Amino acid sequence: MKMPVKIFAFPLVTSALASAALTARDSPLLPFSFTPLPLGSVKANGWLQAELEMEANGLAGHMHDFIPDITDGNWLGGSTSYSTLNEGVPYWFNGLVPLAYTVDDEQLKDQVHAVAGYITTHQLGDGWIGPETDPNSRTFWARYPLVLGLMNLVDANSTWGGPVVDTLGHFVDYMLNRLQNNYTDYWYHDGVELQPIDFTWGRVRYADMIVSLQWLFEKHPAGKEQELLDTMNFLYNGSIDWNDWYVEGVYPTQDLSGVPIDPNTSPIFPYEHGVNVGQGLKSFGVVRRLTGNDSLIDTAMNAVNWTFTYHGSASGTIIADEILEGLNPWSGSETCTAVETMYSLSYLYQTLGDAYYADRTELLTYNAMFAQLTSDWWGHQYMAQPNQPYCEKLSTAPFWNVNVVGQTFGLQPNYPCCQFNHPQGLPKFVMATYATTGDGNGLVHALLGPTQVTTTLSSGNVNVSCDTAYPFDNTLTYTIQSDGNFDFYVRVPAWHDASSSSISTNSGPSTTLSPDPVSGLHKLNISAGQTTVTYTLGSQIWTEIRPHDTISVHRGALVYALEINSTESTTAPHQWNNLDAAVTFSVPDQCKDFFFANETAWNYAIDPSTMTFHSSLDVSGDLSMPFAPGESQLWIEAQACLIPWDMYLDSVPGIPSTGSSRTCLGDAQTVRLVPYGSAKTRIGDIPTISI
Ligand SMILES: *[C@@H]1O[C@H](CO)[C@@H](O)[C@H](O)[C@H]1NC(C)=O
Ligand SMILES: *[C@@H]1O[C@H](CO)[C@@H](O)[C@H](O)[C@H]1NC(C)=O
Ligand SMILES: *[C@@H]1O[C@H](CO)[C@@H](O)[C@H](O)[C@H]1NC(C)=O
Ligand SMILES: *[C@@H]1O[C@H](CO)[C@@H](O)[C@H](O)[C@H]1NC(C)=O
Ligand SMILES: *[C@@H]1O[C@H](CO)[C@@H](O)[C@H](O)[C@H]1NC(C)=O
Ligand SMILES: *[C@@H]1O[C@H](CO)[C@@H](O)[C@H](O)[C@H]1NC(C)=O
Ligand SMILES: *[C@@H]1O[C@H](CO)[C@@H](O)[C@H](O)[C@H]1NC(C)=O
Ligand SMILES: *[C@@H]1O[C@H](CO)[C@@H](O)[C@H](O)[C@H]1NC(C)=O
Ligand SMILES: *[C@@H]1O[C@H](CO)[C@@H](O)[C@H](O)[C@H]1NC(C)=O
Repeated sequence: MKMPVKIFAFPLVTSALASAALTARDSPLLPFSFTPLPLGSVKANGWLQAELEMEANGLAGHMHDFIPDITDGNWLGGSTSYSTLNEGVPYWFNGLVPLAYTVDDEQLKDQVHAVAGYITTHQLGDGWIGPETDPNSRTFWARYPLVLGLMNLVDANSTWGGPVVDTLGHFVDYMLNRLQNNYTDYWYHDGVELQPIDFTWGRVRYADMIVSLQWLFEKHPAGKEQELLDTMNFLYNGSIDWNDWYVEGVYPTQDLSGVPIDPNTSPIFPYEHGVNVGQGLKSFGVVRRLTGNDSLIDTAMNAVNWTFTYHGSASGTIIADEILEGLNPWSGSETCTAVETMYSLSYLYQTLGDAYYADRTELLTYNAMFAQLTSDWWGHQYMAQPNQPYCEKLSTAPFWNVNVVGQTFGLQPNYPCCQFNHPQGLPKFVMATYATTGDGNGLVHALLGPTQVTTTLSSGNVNVSCDTAYPFDNTLTYTIQSDGNFDFYVRVPAWHDASSSSISTNSGPSTTLSPDPVSGLHKLNISAGQTTVTYTLGSQIWTEIRPHDTISVHRGALVYALEINSTESTTAPHQWNNLDAAVTFSVPDQCKDFFFANETAWNYAIDPSTMTFHSSLDVSGDLSMPFAPGESQLWIEAQACLIPWDMYLDSVPGIPSTGSSRTCLGDAQTVRLVPYGSAKTRIGDIPTISI
């Protein structure tokens, strides 16, 4: 397949173009549908706060103490980096800033301040930020997550505004100069395309840098408006553009497993890499803000829809190990892909305002993301599979480019990117749970869950706190304190059962929901003073068809997987590039590699007509570690039997028997389906049979 190639003439005359744009609209950047709130405005409550604290007390919050990429990081005056991309510290920083300021953890804040302080005082004379003193070794990419972290730090703590805006201003001077000079550090060095393939990451992940430049433009332009617009236009113009990929006839809708691809020569490799896809989905919202091209609204919808229809898991993540695969239940998804996709989907809801993106953000967060983490937040997977009855050293890896322990949990099961990048997922989700409306007097509960927000609307200060066990229980109780009257909007998920859903204000009558068909928002008028809102969402069990005569099972925002009981064992963490040797640096006791061995057979089919929902949840009680294996307080029971089911590569469950060869091998028995996030060992795409 050949991709359209853009032809560029040099030099570009973007200044004149951007000036024309300036006069064409009041602000050259299109506004958000729902404006994001600055870091620190939103905090978590209840079980979600407990998860954030666990994250802060787990690997994420301790990496600064013992991981050589940070303690001896080449970004921070040391000499360590796991790859020439030098992305470890930037990934870590991007996650730690929102984590530290959302849980208000003084120790973690001190760590991010120390790193921000070092970086803002060690900018090179030419404006470059980072350890690459040799100009010929530079590529912009690793600066994207770093700058996103700095952006959030300034929003949360204005003390950092001065040094950060000054540093970024010099860096933008550098970038624009390089971009104008034949896209140096972005596309070429001395007219030669950047090598190896990872050095295209800057060009395909452009949206992440443009997000920060748009923030600078709107909040801290420092007289550089034109330069910022030019830089954004150059970044987009020289990009590997996602708009060229999500085109009918170009986008691959077929099963790609086993289709050979040479990462060093294939022009489509950057589009097929799962983490790039996750990051790229936001590009349509980002670029539309810049160019005003409304066709991107439809392209974004197609992009997300096609990605999940042809390469998505029922748990809400993208199947790509590490390239797009198709839908086979042994194929894997990176933890990096999960957290990047969460950020992109929540950003698309903020920019384009379509509820589809918000529904998908919750699906991914409350299912796929938690499933890739141990419940104590010390271990994560590199790859998660829909059908994953064990997480052990495999005889053969069923993935394109991942080792045989990629689906075990630990410090760095495979490549270390997910070690450094996993922390951003949950704190950025919490940040995006609320947003404001363009008219300045509306507050939106965009992503449901136990969170609280304090902000200022045009009618004054407002504080909204949502107490709920959502998504484990679907009643949300809001306590609202406001200086003036304002509009409060709650999102109504597409899965809700309208006849058993309702909302009421104070002790008033319950009314049915009337969500806007696009945004999914139900509007309430809130008066000054104290208000209580009770919002109840009804939900039934529903199923989705998956490949090979299988289904996924859902209720509310949760996916339910067939739980395969397993036994956990642990070892010292291994070196990412030597599976047989433990890491040579010392680690805290909790830092381990985790393996899960199936205690039973896994080759079950269920009779979907026998499914019944059960709960022992005490909503007023302790819901700590709701995703711990074997401890779920919600489950679905079904009748099941064992069926013929071959292995794939003698290593993992393959395609289950189908048609007339799908027969019960033994008696029917009752099995349990539990929330996907707690089912570390599971069958998620479940074969069906009539019993
Ligand atoms: C903001 O940053 C400054 C400088 O690092 C620090 O002294 C101060 O405590 C921070 N403020 C908050 C609220 O964390
Ligand atoms: C930029 O790089 C391209 C690709 O190698 C080359 O053909 C072109 O001559 C370069 N242009 C300038 C102005 O250096
Ligand atoms: C991109 O480059 C082309 C060719 O030089 C130019 O015509 C176009 O206006 C540029 N687009 C933007 C958005 O700067
Ligand atoms: C606007 O977006 C559409 C769809 O994504 C694309 O085909 C078109 O080329 C874009 N228009 C411009 C002027 O960039
Ligand atoms: C996704 O695409 C499929 C097939 O084109 C279509 O049937 C479905 O309605 C789309 N879903 C959304 C949410 O656009
Ligand atoms: C907001 O309200 C919640 C619950 O009523 C309360 O715990 C919290 O302290 C309030 N926050 C502020 C900043 O007033
Ligand atoms: C909210 O207020 C507006 C204007 O004051 C009014 O038209 C509307 O009916 C009210 N909606 C509800 C649900 O009370
Ligand atoms: C898994 O363990 C639970 C609790 O010990 C038990 O009730 C259940 O039957 C086991 N499941 C299977 C499939 O053996
Ligand atoms: C676990 O799964 C493996 C692979 O299919 C199987 O060989 C083994 O018998 C299962 N373990 C138990 C205890 O059933």
